[in-house]
Amino acid sequence: MMTQSHDAVVRAQFGPRANAYVQSAVHAAGEDLDAVEAIVRRCAPAHAIDLGAGGGHVAYRLARHAAAVTAVDLSAEMLAAVAHTARERGLSNLATCAAPAEDLPFADAAFDFLACRFSAHHWRDFEAGLRQARRVLKGGSTALFVDIVSPGAAALDTHLQAVELLRDPSHIRDYTRREWEAALTGAGFAVQATQLRRLRMDYPTWVERMRTPEAHRAAIRSLQRQVSSETAAYYEIEPDGSFTIDSLQMEAVAA
Ligand SMILES: C[S@@+](CC[C@H](N)C(=O)[O-])C[C@H]1O[C@@H](n2cnc3c(N)ncnc32)[C@H](O)[C@@H]1O
Repeated sequence: MMTQSHDAVVRAQFGPRANAYVQSAVHAAGEDLDAVEAIVRRCAPAHAIDLGAGGGHVAYRLARHAAAVTAVDLSAEMLAAVAHTARERGLSNLATCAAPAEDLPFADAAFDFLACRFSAHHWRDFEAGLRQARRVLKGGSTALFVDIVSPGAAALDTHLQAVELLRDPSHIRDYTRREWEAALTGAGFAVQATQLRRLRMDYPTWVERMRTPEAHRAAIRSLQRQVSSETAAYYEIEPDGSFTIDSLQMEAVAA
């Protein structure tokens, strides 16, 4: 059996799907992106960083209001798609950098705004990534984190992590709100405001975007058919496998 490091698993999952992430409706639009833009407009940073930039949807919004933006991701292919899209959109203030969140190649206090959306649940070391996020920010700067969160109750948590891992082997954990808040505080952030949203995942596009193997799709559907009525109700599981999860936006200040 061939094995590879977690970072290599992430690159293998996301690299070949770069265009799918640039096109993805769930990633390209949404109330949360509008909220990110409203906050960056207010802050008008000199140099903003988008950590785990994926298809670049946060970075494009940051680039409208920051003097400079650096999009960071583990996947060089993802960043090539971001650079291409930025050129198409005339965003000349957007640079890219391939690096792991856990080991950022930037000086202390190099940035004055940070955004990180739907990435931390893939990180091999969540706490180390957050410590790096804090290190590269000037004190008093705003950091915005958005991620899928676990509702916490054991049965709901187990179901969520199981379907996420079956869909994508680079999934590590959708943390609970409490885990996020503890990790942010431990890394040197002060959480100022949070906003919870419900997010519907369209099953056919959700598995197609990650090219989930047929055997895993069958396992997800089988799990969904056998869950308790409480779990089915919480995730609003639909006949075609689509379901609804929690997304948490956390606005914090580098303390
Ligand atoms: C779902 S996509 C991100 C979506 C994007 N932020 C958005 O809002 O549209 C997750 C991204 O996180 C990146 N990623 C995962 N682990 C990472 C790590 N440890 N360091 C940097 N990037 C990472 C992946 O390569 C992938 O591009």
